[in-house]
Amino acid sequence: MCGIVGVLSNQSAVPIIFEALRRLEYRGYDSAGIATLVNGSIERRRASGKLDNLGEILKKNALSGTVGIGHTRWATHGAPTENNAHPHATERVAIVHNGIIENHEALRKELEEAGQIFKSDTDSETIALLVDLYLKQGKSPKDAAHTALNRLEGAFAIAMLFANEENLMIGARHGAPLIVGFGESEMFLGSDSLALAPLTRRIAYMPDGSWVVLTRKGADFYDLEGRSIDCPIQITALMAGAIGKDGYRHYMEKELNEHPVVIGQTLRRFVNPSTHQIELPEIDFTSISRATVTACGSAYYAGMIGRYWLEEYARLPVDIDIASELRYRNPPLDKNGIGLLISQSGETADTLGALRLLKNAGQHIISVLNCEHSTMARESDTVLGTDAGVEIAVATTKAFSAQLTVLACLTLVAGVKRGNLTNETADACLSALLDVPSRVAEALQLQPAIQEMAKIVAEAQTVIYLGRGILFPVAMEGALKLKEISYIHADAYAAGEMKHGPIALIDPTVPIISVVPLGYLFDKTVSNLQEAKARGGRLLVFTDEKGAKTLKGIAEQVVVLPDVHPFVSPILYTVPVQMLAYEAALIKGTDVDQPRNLAKSVTVE
Ligand code: F6R
Repeated sequence: MCGIVGVLSNQSAVPIIFEALRRLEYRGYDSAGIATLVNGSIERRRASGKLDNLGEILKKNALSGTVGIGHTRWATHGAPTENNAHPHATERVAIVHNGIIENHEALRKELEEAGQIFKSDTDSETIALLVDLYLKQGKSPKDAAHTALNRLEGAFAIAMLFANEENLMIGARHGAPLIVGFGESEMFLGSDSLALAPLTRRIAYMPDGSWVVLTRKGADFYDLEGRSIDCPIQITALMAGAIGKDGYRHYMEKELNEHPVVIGQTLRRFVNPSTHQIELPEIDFTSISRATVTACGSAYYAGMIGRYWLEEYARLPVDIDIASELRYRNPPLDKNGIGLLISQSGETADTLGALRLLKNAGQHIISVLNCEHSTMARESDTVLGTDAGVEIAVATTKAFSAQLTVLACLTLVAGVKRGNLTNETADACLSALLDVPSRVAEALQLQPAIQEMAKIVAEAQTVIYLGRGILFPVAMEGALKLKEISYIHADAYAAGEMKHGPIALIDPTVPIISVVPLGYLFDKTVSNLQEAKARGGRLLVFTDEKGAKTLKGIAEQVVVLPDVHPFVSPILYTVPVQMLAYEAALIKGTDVDQPRNLAKSVTVE
């Protein structure tokens, strides 16, 4: 959701900013721009569309300067045109912004009345014109920035550059992430540590509601009242090498193939190899009366799977809702409840809003997060980290299975501590879990069969996914992934629900993809598939060896996965449904890693 970079260097700033924007492009790719100081004057280049378009403009019309700011945009207010691209600038100040200024209309009116002239349709330009107004009134850059920041409502991460101030940059964050990087006589601002990975490993994660004044010598941090605050430097473990494609065609393909490693790493974090016990931070599971689970998108489907597990294995009552709904629903919450939040980025605005609602209602907040320096991490009582590493493809893959891995560990510990799971059953489930990386590696070998399935899917206008019970959310994940990256309309239904309406959609052009290993309600699901087949639907199924015996006579294509314990089947079956979406998108020729209209980290409501 928009990427921001700021560089105060002694070398040419543009190549550094451009490469950092390349690493941030996953956050938005509707337009991009860079501004620098050239002999004290603000100069900028902007382009609609992807960063490469900006690269072309810079080739024809280079930009010098050692201090500069850059932006890659996911449009909220105003179409993704060059005119609306950041940086927004006057002759005195240039800004880049991530977030939404909610009071922009009132500010725009006030600024226009004061004679300020808007050149874009964006909410962000109000920041530039506000700071500009205060500069015109004689305030110093620091005072102008501080006064302006206190007028803004909504979410923002901002970097500001001032004319004739070669050794100054101001950054601010409120509800959107911003970090400061410390180099050797160089300073950086960035939306995340990935942006700055090759530049420095010395990072300060700005607290929410803070702003920073950078010079080449260092950084001074303040709260919004203007009081000086501490912001410790940390050494990030992120290495520049973590962000290549390693010979794969797309990040998504690379990340799909990282499933076994990521699940294994995540298990290593929680399972003590000598005792064969799962070790979690101290949580009193016996006194918990209810868990409220919430997240967005795929992370929400991970939460749905978590609900099935926690209810069945730990007999813990669970409510689950999409974060954008929960945050405005005002549900009654038990005194001894927990809030269980799931997020790859830890910055998703809706999930963060729901976290705050749950926290204010006295829930103990447990977050399953991939980015452990994120805002959600700081605001949670307990963080359970997923070791998925950097995920760059906009559509999540490996982070999802890492979330499932953590939720599975949580379930087993909760089940035993609540006295609902015998040690023998828990051990059997844990052994199955430890076996998952190998089974997933086998599932990845099914790519040729999945490519055959993708040929049918890629021709369809509509695809239906079916699953039952704990595999229903896996069907939902498959449908979402297909929609996101191939732009084919897909929906998932609980198999038993088909006959109550969606069955009307079925005709011979509609592939029906089902996730149906032998075991849980197999016969009932097979009956539902027969009903669809009787109406001309094309059945494509993912099953196991035993299920295949029945399904081979019914379905047009059957992909046979390794046999696993039912406890871990949601993790295993995620891999082929995600791979199917990838293969269909390849056939469709879409932009797999950066699908249209999407962004990786959704920091607006
Ligand atoms: C789907 C996808 C999104 C995210 C959702 C939540 O492929 O990536 O649906 O799962 O935007 O993001 P996080 O997990 O960062 O909170």
